Amino acid sequence: MIQLVSLSSALAGDTAMAKKRKSAKERLMGARFRMLNEELYRSSSEDNQTLFEKDPEAFAAYHQGFRAQVQRWDQHPAMMMVSKLKDICKMKIHRDKPEPLTVVDLGCGEALIAKEIYRDSPANQDQGDSLDVRQKQFKGKGKKKTQPKKPIVIRSFDLVADNEYAEVGNIAALNLESNSQDVAIFSLSLMGNDHPLFIQEAARILKKDTGIMLVSEVGSRITSQKMFVKMVEGYGFKLDTTPRDMNYFVFFEFKRTDAEDTVPDEQTIAAGRLGICEYKPR
Ligand SMILES: C[S@@+](CC[C@H](N)C(=O)[O-])C[C@H]1O[C@@H](n2cnc3c(N)ncnc32)[C@H](O)[C@@H]1O
Repeated sequence: MIQLVSLSSALAGDTAMAKKRKSAKERLMGARFRMLNEELYRSSSEDNQTLFEKDPEAFAAYHQGFRAQVQRWDQHPAMMMVSKLKDICKMKIHRDKPEPLTVVDLGCGEALIAKEIYRDSPANQDQGDSLDVRQKQFKGKGKKKTQPKKPIVIRSFDLVADNEYAEVGNIAALNLESNSQDVAIFSLSLMGNDHPLFIQEAARILKKDTGIMLVSEVGSRITSQKMFVKMVEGYGFKLDTTPRDMNYFVFFEFKRTDAEDTVPDEQTIAAGRLGICEYKPR
């Protein structure tokens, strides 16, 4: 009997120790995520590129922390982008054109948008397994209500290519033709102290007059929605719908105007630029 009691208390001690170790590990991971997060917001895109080149594990560490953070939100902004893309496919201007909708996911992270769009796509099977997934087109058969009939080609860029859907590219300067894309997406990815350059780059690659830019950003980063919109419009965009406040993040939809490539003045950039997003320890 005495032996049984001591065995069970030893087991309880082991479990308590394992719990302590787990929570210490989680605290360390959380601290690393917050440190990387702050660095990514405070540095230039070039410095951020160097950071990941020198420490390739930092990307995985960052995204592990980011995933834990997003789990606390009601909705993942990337999933909101997916449903928006499906709506765009149904717009008359795109629906009736035979060519695929060209989409760029800028600062794609784990490329959740491409994964979700290509998931279960019949075209993936039709086009054979030997084809590089990045060249595949999403082509729903339109049987399910959620599947658009319109083919979509998504290219997903980040400083590190985390999986087969992603490509390495600094979104401040991409190797893409001007005036070539239908939709540009920034899902919480206007990071870096030079993030206005990302908007300028999106304006360059989007098709003039019809291009659409979708932006979601953490609400606490936006000092003034009005000034942020004014800055973005200064790059050749027009706010298309009223920004949607989704609790933790705000969702914006802009249309590329037919204006030639242009930049707002320094004052407008200074007033519109986003602040730093700091996540609190749990
Ligand atoms: C907060 S995460 C969001 C990831 C993804 N868009 C999502 O919603 O799950 C921001 C991402 O932007 C990327 N990023 C930041 N600056 C970048 C740059 N200059 N070029 C490419 N990607 C960048 C980061 O590496 C990170 O993966």
